[in-house]
Amino acid sequence: MNILIVGSGIVGLSTAFELALAGKKVTVVTRNYEEGASWVAGGMLAPLSEGLEGELLEFSLENLRLYPDYVSRIEEVSKIKVFFEKEGILRLGVDEEEMELIRKRAEVYSRMGLKVETLEKGDLRNIEPAISEKVEGGVLHHEEGNVDAEKLMDALLIGVGNLGVRIVVDEVVEVERRNSRVESVKGLKDRYSADFFVFATGSWSKSLLKLPVFPVKGQILKVKGPEPKKVCYSKASYIIPKEGFLLIGATSEEAGFDTRNNLKGVGTLIDGAVRVMPSLGEAELIDVKVGFRPATPDGKPVFEAGENFATLTGHHRNGILWAPISAKMVLDLIEKGVRSRYFDLFSPSRFEG
Ligand code: GLY
Repeated sequence: MNILIVGSGIVGLSTAFELALAGKKVTVVTRNYEEGASWVAGGMLAPLSEGLEGELLEFSLENLRLYPDYVSRIEEVSKIKVFFEKEGILRLGVDEEEMELIRKRAEVYSRMGLKVETLEKGDLRNIEPAISEKVEGGVLHHEEGNVDAEKLMDALLIGVGNLGVRIVVDEVVEVERRNSRVESVKGLKDRYSADFFVFATGSWSKSLLKLPVFPVKGQILKVKGPEPKKVCYSKASYIIPKEGFLLIGATSEEAGFDTRNNLKGVGTLIDGAVRVMPSLGEAELIDVKVGFRPATPDGKPVFEAGENFATLTGHHRNGILWAPISAKMVLDLIEKGVRSRYFDLFSPSRFEG
């Protein structure tokens, strides 16, 4: 069975990886395999810190459970070690209002059986002594994790190469679709046919697939400096320790596809990080990265399964977290004919009319 995947972000590559591992012949068509949100992502696996609820939370927790095996498979095939840990994220309350919000959420999560620990000022600084005295407190979400998204993308690219996936650089400009069948896909260089098509086109889905997906620009800083033990997430900033460096994120701007960083964004990120962890004032700024989250009007992803195609887009702030199940949904559909209920829960039909 020949499968054509359009898009080489984490969702496209994870799908290519799982299908190729299952013995399928896979081609990925991408405009630029270094483009896209995944290369810029903070890599926090943080649905509780993000305050998700309902079906999005359920979907996220299912992804979190699959993450260790997903990373192991990619490491094994690529022979690349990916920094990944699942030792919890500290959700901070930088003022009373934020503390009140996270305390209430923690009660709800706790009633759901999730492992959350509310920390008052003193307890917080026992865990992270570098946190400012002004921070009110925090909640430790034990189940959350942290992955180096850039390393994961490197490993996926090498991994799919090792599995014989062909990567073609071309810009897809048209999907020739008849009802629920895709006939072919037209690029600037060539026309592509396949037995099954997957569209994982992230922020670029609107013109190609006529879906209400729009880019939300994020600027993120890469710095070298004193590292907290855990991700410190607050409304002021998120400070994300990796191996040997830190990421400080992230702005959220509706600015179309403007790839430039700006001093306003960078300044806000630095102020937010130093407010939470004053010692970061001494850190060295290594890089400013800019990416585009594929957002939807209701903050939910868009999944569609047609006769011979699947669409996986609109992952907005959680593409890294939601990649394992996104890929698995296509694998289950093709291998077992099992249609995940997430295709119905997050169907594009919700935008019709
Ligand atoms: N997941 C964090 C962000 O999108 O900034």
